[in-house]
Amino acid sequence: MADLSINLAGIKSPNPFWVASAPPSNTAYQCHRAFEAGWGGVVWKTIGEPIVNVSSRYSSLDLNGSRMVGLNNIELITDRAPETNFREIRECKDRWPDHAIIASLMTDTRENWHDYMKASADAGADGVELNFGCPHGMCERGMGSAVGQNPDVIETIVGWVMEVAEIPVIVKLTPNITSINHAARAASRAGANAISLINTINSITQVDLDRMCPEPYVAGQSTHGGYCGPAVKPIALNMVQECAADPEVLIPISGIGGISNWKDAAEFIALGSTSVQVCTAIMHYGFRIVEDMIEGLNDYLDGAGMKSVNELIGRAVQSVQRWETLDLNYKRIASIDYDTCIGCNLCYIACEDGAHQAIALVDPEAKGVGLGPGRLPGKPVPEIKEKECVGCNLCALVCPVDACITMIDVDNGKDRMSWSDYQAKVASGEMKPIPAHP
Ligand SMILES: Cc1cc2nc3c(=O)[nH]c(=O)nc-3n(C[C@H](O)[C@H](O)[C@H](O)COP(=O)(O)O)c2cc1C
Ligand code: SF4
Ligand code: SF4
Repeated sequence: MADLSINLAGIKSPNPFWVASAPPSNTAYQCHRAFEAGWGGVVWKTIGEPIVNVSSRYSSLDLNGSRMVGLNNIELITDRAPETNFREIRECKDRWPDHAIIASLMTDTRENWHDYMKASADAGADGVELNFGCPHGMCERGMGSAVGQNPDVIETIVGWVMEVAEIPVIVKLTPNITSINHAARAASRAGANAISLINTINSITQVDLDRMCPEPYVAGQSTHGGYCGPAVKPIALNMVQECAADPEVLIPISGIGGISNWKDAAEFIALGSTSVQVCTAIMHYGFRIVEDMIEGLNDYLDGAGMKSVNELIGRAVQSVQRWETLDLNYKRIASIDYDTCIGCNLCYIACEDGAHQAIALVDPEAKGVGLGPGRLPGKPVPEIKEKECVGCNLCALVCPVDACITMIDVDNGKDRMSWSDYQAKVASGEMKPIPAHP
């Protein structure tokens, strides 16, 4: 069994799976339930001056029968008093000394930040997370993403916090920004011990066309909400990698955004996260999803010959490079497995109308593949025109049968050549420009 324990900037946790700051981490009761289920850490629901919430608060994007592919919320930080939250953090820490409990904080003045830092340390929190990411409600009051969108303000506030910090400080970043790097660098420059990302993305998920008002509906109005859940994972992975690869950041990362299972988590870790945080998947399925996450990650690490999750951290970061460094001479094409092809011809339509007209429809008898699962007599089957195929992947992506279309490498005998190499060769006269397609 692989060692799943981690140490993120001094915060120790028996595994990398943390409950994100959100409704599932609102009370001691939930914190106990989370740890009983197997979570390694809990980032407490953001503590600040208690607020008043609206009703209703959530809306979602459902896709082809899958519920809550994306979740939108207009909820604010905790509505419980800071003293209550700090008291419950102490209670949880006393009962779970080996688990990570992180106090998420949001306030305004230097004095208030100092007070909250002291209260967090006194409560026994293993660290704090500064919520610079909330995209609604709090930013209008000069907090949340209003801070996270301005690197100078991030630097100032992290500076105030570090003046009194006795425990590790994680800065939670907003994705509602043109370049995440500037925000991450500001946090690092100011002395933060780690960053976490992403918080939610500004969104409107749906409009009620009878009421002419988006959801969530609040007495005839709505507002921009924060988007999260499986749909945001690609955006979060991209930003995590950008921070992990940035030589001006160089502090550990807690990855967040659309993580629902062990594989999502492993991908975040491979792109540079030390811990991962989960909100929507817990709101959807409950704390017990962590059992499969632990088992799955452990099996993966064992299978890959890694003795510890630490060996996985950042392994894939360097494989992401600028476009102009990619090999222009690498070639792959699509290949169809006729033993599993059901003859739906979705691949043909996709390539014909949406890609490169590189699939023909042919007589299965003439091709010698006969009838297959669901293939009717006389119905044509797709055939890849290998010379026309540019290896775009589209047919493999639309094919409804797992692994029926695979992309295979073609040895074209050409040496590696990037766009930068190509430009240099053309400039030096070593090669002529590649002619455009007629
Ligand atoms: C209803 C709701 C409330 C949230 N409240 C907070 C909060 O108080 N503080 C915070 O830092 N993030 C908050 N978040 C953001 C989550 O911590 C997390 O960053 C985001 O949901 C992305 O993770 P996910 O895709 O696993 O949900 C909230 C998210 C949701 C859905
Ligand atoms: S999409 Fe897949 S299953 Fe359908 S015809 Fe093409 S290869 Fe066969
Ligand atoms: S990989 Fe792209 S170009 Fe090649 S057959 Fe599939 S859809 Fe067409």
